[in-house]
Amino acid sequence: MDPREEIRNRLGIEEVVGQYVQMKKSGRNFKACCPFHQEKTPSFIISPDKGLAYCFGCRKGGDIFAFVQEVENVTFPEALKILGEKAGIEVQQTFNKQTSERKQVILGLIEEAQRFFVSQLNANAAASKYLSDRGYDKKLQQQLGLGFAPDSFHELTKALETKGFSSQEILDAGLAAQKQVGDSNVYDRFRNRIMFPIHDTQGRLVAFGGRTLSKDDPAKYLNSPETKYYHKGQTLYCFHMAKQAIREQDQAIIVEGYFDALTCQAKGFPQTVASLGTALTEDQIKLLKRFTKNLLFAFDADPSGQAAASRSVEIAQRLGLNVSVITIPAGKDPDEALRTAPAEWEKMVAEAVPAVDYEIQKACKQHDIRSIQGKKSIAEYVLPIIQRLANAIEQEHYLKKLSLELDTSLRSLFVQLRGIKASYSPPQTDNNVSKVAEQPVPSRFEHLAGLITIHPQYSEQILSDINKENLERDEEKKLYTALSAQYNHSESKGQTESVISDEERQRLQFLELYAEENYSSFSQEDIATEVNDLTEAIRKDYQRRRLQELRYRMAKEPNNTDLATEYTQLLSQ
Ligand code: CTP
Ligand code: MN
Repeated sequence: MDPREEIRNRLGIEEVVGQYVQMKKSGRNFKACCPFHQEKTPSFIISPDKGLAYCFGCRKGGDIFAFVQEVENVTFPEALKILGEKAGIEVQQTFNKQTSERKQVILGLIEEAQRFFVSQLNANAAASKYLSDRGYDKKLQQQLGLGFAPDSFHELTKALETKGFSSQEILDAGLAAQKQVGDSNVYDRFRNRIMFPIHDTQGRLVAFGGRTLSKDDPAKYLNSPETKYYHKGQTLYCFHMAKQAIREQDQAIIVEGYFDALTCQAKGFPQTVASLGTALTEDQIKLLKRFTKNLLFAFDADPSGQAAASRSVEIAQRLGLNVSVITIPAGKDPDEALRTAPAEWEKMVAEAVPAVDYEIQKACKQHDIRSIQGKKSIAEYVLPIIQRLANAIEQEHYLKKLSLELDTSLRSLFVQLRGIKASYSPPQTDNNVSKVAEQPVPSRFEHLAGLITIHPQYSEQILSDINKENLERDEEKKLYTALSAQYNHSESKGQTESVISDEERQRLQFLELYAEENYSSFSQEDIATEVNDLTEAIRKDYQRRRLQELRYRMAKEPNNTDLATEYTQLLSQ
């Protein structure tokens, strides 16, 4: 059997899509907010029966392969591979054989290194003790895949070379370094460090982070460099473990460090990921957004933690997410808080403050709230934050709050707010996310086409009341031709075997899906009215366009009587 068919048979569309978005059951289908464009009300429909997922807002989607191609931004062969793995079906890779073999080698090498680090941890009492002192017993160390890089320049390299890997491959995997490019001497990058495995969003081991055990090493943490297979800005530490919990709890907690994330994971907060000490990138936030709209930031109280938090919050707010901040007492981090006082941590999470409130509180603490200068400084800091909120009601809510805090009038804050030059820049569009859909909803005729598929008894009426010329766009004209062909065929042969192209058939399937969603609650009478209304509107629309066109042409060709005749005829209709 074609592997494509086999995979399609094994994986339901809902199973595949469910990994990326939150779905709600809606009759026989599911609904979700579209992962391909920004929206507040769900218009992404997932139909298990048809094996399709489609957004009528931005017109993206399709079967499992089309969906994965779009959402992962990969080519068809890659989508085939991803889904093949998921379905447990071997897919012959005929495309990009060399690149994919190379990738297999590097990822295999990293797996091998992981085994090495784990065995080293088991053999090194000091490293093991360090971890158990930090609350990670043997079982937990094993469960989390923690390892140890020995205090040596060559042990890992040697071990890997014995397994048949070349020094170039070890360099490419980011596990070795060299003094100069081309230098034949390569040495272990990670030495005397606790090793944290880092996985990509699909759960493949792609990199490591290492914490030194030496007191006088200036680099407390060292991470794998960016490689072809590890892109720091697109990876979140612990994401592969957390994604299920993030979806279920409809919330993600974002912490800074390795130990923070792991302690949270181990102690009852599986919805936690780590940014690894920097602000989140837009890609990372978009990744989270596919699973939840609620982000809780728990960054250190130190200035660098606070700066990273502010940046991340700003991006997340621009992307329309609900952002809260977990306030951690100075000098502590989630790891410590959770280990020493789990109940307190739980309370901190429960009492997370919406980000803007947090910023207001912060500004009020930093300045003298009673002096004029203080009030001005606070307003200067907080107003731009309020301004970038996407929602006007939310803006007003915070302006009121600020006016109470500062004991100033709402009016003067409004004036100030309007004076601020919009520093807001809309999120950059990339191939994956289109901001504004060109054709926001199916057109009237597409509605009718959908209605025909679920109520074929209206075919004759619709196809005779509307002509192809009445339709504006080429796509609609093609659809009309397909519907007529299908209708004539079924009339003459008494069967509905299709005489239309695959492309049109798929479009009709989407429209059928749309009609099922929209018209399921309609009575027969409502349907009849809807058909009449839509037909009438299409004809009126055509009339208006045609009249306009005729007027234009008549002005240019005043002696053309045909134009004048058509014009009067149309007017009298
Ligand atoms: N970090 C990093 N590189 C550095 C410093 C920090 O990648 N040079 C990241 C690590 O992920 C680290 C996080 O930033 O876990 C937070 O750094 P820090 O607060 O300094 O460390 P802790 O996680 O608190 O480390 P520990 O508890 O082991 O002292
Ligand atoms: Mn710490």
